[in-house]
Amino acid sequence: MTGSAQPDAPIDLNDLDLFVSGDPHAAWSWLRENAPVYWNPTPEGGFWALTKYEDVAAAYIDASAFSSRFGTVLGGSYRSAADTASGQMLICSDPPDHRLLRQQVHKAFAPWMIEKATRRVVEFLDAALDKFVAAGGGDFATEVALELPAGFLSAMFDLGRDDAFRLLRLTRSMIGHKDPEYAGSARSGMTLVASQVEIFDMISELMERRRREPGGDLVSILCSAEINGRPMSDSQILYNCLNVAVGGNETTPYTATAAVLALADHPDQAERLIADPGLLSTAVEEVFRWTSTNAYVQRTATRDVELRGALIRAGDSVTLWNASANRDEEQFPAPDVFDIARTPNQHLAFGVAAHRCIGMGGARQEITLLMRALAERRLRFRVAGPVERLRSNFMLGIKHLPVTVTAG
Ligand code: HEM
Repeated sequence: MTGSAQPDAPIDLNDLDLFVSGDPHAAWSWLRENAPVYWNPTPEGGFWALTKYEDVAAAYIDASAFSSRFGTVLGGSYRSAADTASGQMLICSDPPDHRLLRQQVHKAFAPWMIEKATRRVVEFLDAALDKFVAAGGGDFATEVALELPAGFLSAMFDLGRDDAFRLLRLTRSMIGHKDPEYAGSARSGMTLVASQVEIFDMISELMERRRREPGGDLVSILCSAEINGRPMSDSQILYNCLNVAVGGNETTPYTATAAVLALADHPDQAERLIADPGLLSTAVEEVFRWTSTNAYVQRTATRDVELRGALIRAGDSVTLWNASANRDEEQFPAPDVFDIARTPNQHLAFGVAAHRCIGMGGARQEITLLMRALAERRLRFRVAGPVERLRSNFMLGIKHLPVTVTAG
């Protein structure tokens, strides 16, 4: 690598303490201003960090220069080209494999599935909110937010409530493997592997059952899917179910919890939403921009690329920081203002181009259902204890959000 102008005080975007305790936005703001194409050294080597909206969007779009095949999470899962997920799992495939896989997985995100999932989410969410409001509050992250993906994935995988929560616990320890709360006493690498094996066991059982008795769920759809005239292989089905389970479980509950924190921190915006339900759709987009739950995605340069005077070498790891792009002052006027009427709002929370989140419609629906319920019930939240964040720079997650709630 050849570094561009490097900051005097080194910033380490791989330092998880920055994400647990502090405010990473100050670091991103500094980088956008002073080193928008930043070489972040690590003990294993390092990675480039793109923090400007324009550069992040351009890198997403140029899949021939910035490949997904070597994994989209820093140093974590699916990093090596030799990994069996590469080319088989949506998130770590390049064209043409990616397009062929996506056509099949996309069938499970049809409008009828979103309708089915909506009914389940409403059922789960209403019951949880009834209890939460009756108790005057509690931990929103654990008592309400998890109902959103549990409802959505119970419809998508056709699972009962208990199994949907079992899947949630597993994806949580997989993505949160660096967080002691989820890793337990095990080494973080072990937690990652063990959770993935258990998820595969669960999906394998479902595959056996659905092959005997097909239904209207993701596993049945993939078991009968063909790519180039051949049935999808078992490992393609397993990896893509894993991709949907992780994508579905480990994003929206963190976004929902961060949305409630944003409303508690900005009571004027909470009042605005209660007073004017017409703001619901812009409020939902502002929540996605503001929270940017999936902080970055990783790509690997396939050839040398010069960007803003820095030379990115073929083989270098390049991270695209959605969370920073979404606060870029050149794209968003007053980016650090939470404005539920913000428009336009072309945020990059779901990425862009070929890999743009396949669950985006579902995620929008989940957060819309939540925000609508909060506004209709006229709920007002106040933070009532320490906000505990996930030890991760990949998912900007709030694990615990103690709040009091009043209605009316
Ligand atoms: C707040 C909610 C969500 C956020 C912020 C989010 C973010 C993202 C981002 C940034 C990507 C692009 C990754 C890349 O380019 O490498 C992505 C892809 C993906 N997401 Fe989401 N996501 C959310 C919800 C969901 C949901 C609800 C599901 C499934 C039910 C899901 C499943 C997936 C899958 C399977 C992919 C891979 C798509 C591909 O590579 O073609 N996501 N998501």
